Amino acid sequence: MKHQLTIEYEEYDSVKELNESDAWLMECAKDATDGAYAPYSHFRVGAALLLADGTVVTGSNQENVAYPSGLCAERTAIFAASAQRPDVRDYQAIAIIARNADGEYCEASPCGACRQVLMEYEQNQGHPLRVLCYLKGGRVRVFEKVADLLPFSFDF
Ligand code: THU
Repeated sequence: MKHQLTIEYEEYDSVKELNESDAWLMECAKDATDGAYAPYSHFRVGAALLLADGTVVTGSNQENVAYPSGLCAERTAIFAASAQRPDVRDYQAIAIIARNADGEYCEASPCGACRQVLMEYEQNQGHPLRVLCYLKGGRVRVFEKVADLLPFSFDF
């Protein structure tokens, strides 16, 4: 028997079209790219996570000469938030953006491992964690929940 999956997402022409809170979060993600340590890829990723109490915790990719030892911006952000604010392990949204070697802002979509990690926090909190991805040309794609990005995820 054949099955089909459909996911819904929204796209905005620019950050300016987002609501105030989302636009602010994307600005925080932009700023977070400054903290990237990316001497190998020269691809600086910034992530900004909005906690339920209104706090924003940011992260950026941190690379290492032993390549797999590095960490993506999204996981840096959510692990930092979880570690520093275990009292507010409740996340509303995460904004993600990247900057290439020429310093231009460009598209960033969470990798599979980051989706898996974000998803667990979303499941634990029992309500959606929205994902805002900056796209080429300044557009923004918004997913209402992490689960939309990771169907049939691992669990036991
Ligand atoms: N990277 C992220 O920070 N987030 C992602 O979701 C995908 C990739 C980083 C890892 C590495 O430092 C660089 O981007 C190039 O892969």
